[in-house]
Amino acid sequence: MQAAKLASMPSAQRPAPPILSDGVITLRIARPTDADDVALGCQDPLNAMWTTIPSPYTVTDAQDWLGKQPTGAAWWASPVWIITTPPSDRWGGTIDLRPDGHGGAEVGYLLAPWSRGHGHAARALRLACTWAFSALGLQVITWYAFVGNDASRQTARNVGFQVPNHVFPRFAAQRGERRDSWIGTLTPEGLAAASRLADPRGAYLGPELTRRERDVLGHLTQGQSNRDIAIDLGISENTVKNHVRSILEKLQAKSRAEAVVIGLRQGLTSLPS
Ligand SMILES: CC(C)(COP(=O)(O)OP(=O)(O)OC[C@H]1O[C@@H](n2cnc3c(N)ncnc32)[C@H](O)[C@@H]1OP(=O)(O)O)[C@@H](O)C(=O)NCCC(=O)NCCS
Repeated sequence: MQAAKLASMPSAQRPAPPILSDGVITLRIARPTDADDVALGCQDPLNAMWTTIPSPYTVTDAQDWLGKQPTGAAWWASPVWIITTPPSDRWGGTIDLRPDGHGGAEVGYLLAPWSRGHGHAARALRLACTWAFSALGLQVITWYAFVGNDASRQTARNVGFQVPNHVFPRFAAQRGERRDSWIGTLTPEGLAAASRLADPRGAYLGPELTRRERDVLGHLTQGQSNRDIAIDLGISENTVKNHVRSILEKLQAKSRAEAVVIGLRQGLTSLPS
């Protein structure tokens, strides 16, 4: 579904912000109770050095930031997730997308020091970008880091961003000062190629439904039977059954109804108007 279409939907019909998981990390929505962990994690010197968060960072900064987080309909214009590693639900980092309204978005992320060293940023980046290409219909996602941030550059490259070694002088501002930066871009094709390399067994990397599966999910959302879907789409009832089975598997749903709920939550389908 395109971002513009989502934005123009009445808020009652717009899906709730999606929860994304690859089986190792989960991206969930921010809560006021995250404040103490956000404050602790953002006081870390690496986060101060490589991002634009306030420095020094206080619990009040965390509470202010959490208080400003978009909810409901507004969330879709600037998606933000908290990175967690189940079974713990503790804040372990943040990732956000800033759509430009023209098919692009900039991504930013940071991890709590206690979450680092396991490639969790790459997992979060892969999940958020997979979702954004699919649910928001983005064509490109851009990234930048201040020169010297090797861990972030390697993370971006691992996910499929094209990051040349070129230095862009004074590209970005940090607390009133311009800093030299590296810049990268990610396309859906680059993400798909890197995802196959990262996991050649094709593990679950987010709900990548085919175009036909999304059509079928749309019909399920309208409460249609397999027979009606088959007639509407001009395919056999058996083929519909196969698509439904595949949708349930990809969305990790136990029933058609649950698949619809997950699809709505993740922005893969919408309620009929
Ligand atoms: C950038 C950050 C999110 C990465 O966290 P992470 O997922 O724990 O990263 P990892 O430690 O698993 O390292 C990621 C990759 O970078 C590599 N890497 C880490 N430190 C490196 C260094 N100093 N030089 C070169 N490569 C490095 C790792 O080897 C790994 O690559 P690999 O998987 O190909 O082996 C984390 O370091 C962080 O929070 N930094 C501060 C905030 C920040 O920089 N945000 C990004 C702003 S652009």
